[in-house]
Amino acid sequence: MAEQKKLLRALAGEKMDLPPVWMMRQAGRYLPEYRATRAQAGDFLSLCYNPELAAEVTLQPIRRYGFDAAILFADILLLPQALGADVWFVTGEGPRLSTVTFADDFNKLSGADGIHETLNPIYETLKILKSELPKETTLIGFAGAPWTVATYMIAGRGTPDQGPAHALKNTDRETFQKLIDLITQSTISYLSAQIDAGAEVVKLFDSWAGSLKGDDFNDFALAPAKRIISELKARHPHIPVIAFPREAGDAYIGFAKETGADCLAIDTKVDLGWAAENLQKDGCVQGNLDPKLMVEGGQKLVSETKRIKEALSGGPHIFNLGHGITPDADPANVDVMLKALRG
Ligand code: CP3
Repeated sequence: MAEQKKLLRALAGEKMDLPPVWMMRQAGRYLPEYRATRAQAGDFLSLCYNPELAAEVTLQPIRRYGFDAAILFADILLLPQALGADVWFVTGEGPRLSTVTFADDFNKLSGADGIHETLNPIYETLKILKSELPKETTLIGFAGAPWTVATYMIAGRGTPDQGPAHALKNTDRETFQKLIDLITQSTISYLSAQIDAGAEVVKLFDSWAGSLKGDDFNDFALAPAKRIISELKARHPHIPVIAFPREAGDAYIGFAKETGADCLAIDTKVDLGWAAENLQKDGCVQGNLDPKLMVEGGQKLVSETKRIKEALSGGPHIFNLGHGITPDADPANVDVMLKALRG
């Protein structure tokens, strides 16, 4: 039975003495073996589109730490590229994209049906992983949520306040809505293909959900997540979905129930007593160790790990960070965290 994998048991609502554990960005620059493989690939995007090497970096943290889940090595910005946007990464700075500022820019994008030609190597990576992962390790696929992906497509880069995306939303609602709908449709198709290629769980990253308030949150974070999840559940009823509406605050309440997500990933700002009371009753909760502690280490890392495990022990829990591990993290601190967790 597939349910014997620990991560799938937690996602099915089982409360466990020792929660399953993995880390956002667990394959990344804090690991010397990742830096070596990325150098071999040439650059970050070439690594994403090289199935053998992308599978290799996905496996590296599994070999080193024995995590309960492996997350596909790719990026949320591959989808805009598959839709026809230019995407590149500036070392030390981050992503750059051609911008969608006017209806004309939107009209130049291709349709949702054309994405698979570009994204085919990603499905190949999943197929390799499916055959190479240890039998107890769960394979997670992912995509960015429409709002977060739109913020990069509109601004052409990461922005502190998502200003350009808010501006388009407020001044040309029609183009903005069309963009959200296109990303929503293509995300359904992309995640569905990831599942066909071997993903056992999918996660939707809405990293900038916290900048949407009130009706905007409902229209552009909640509603697209609901559309994506309900369509995925219709096509693949047994595949669990993790939603990460980062920094949603009070809007985390009811999000799982409303969208059909099996698990909510919580950011570092979420109070654990509050999460246990308000979120765990609707399903599994994933999180939320501060990634800073993976840099600092020491007694605080140990005590925080134990505190999170304890505070969420009354319901289904997947131990994770509240956001991705950073390049300056010390790989030895991951061992400290795992020892504190596993005892
Ligand atoms: O979690 C994993 O290990 C799986 C792989 C993964 C990456 N990006 C690899 C990556 C996942 C799930 C993502 C998601 C992603 N990408 C998000 C959502 C999650 C979040 O962090 O909020 C976002 C917003 C992006 C877009 C993105 N990709 C940015 C803004 C950057 C630059 C910042 C940075 O950390 O360098 C990236 C690059 C990126 N994506 C790297 C990795 C390993 C670093 C690239 C490198 O090796 O130089």
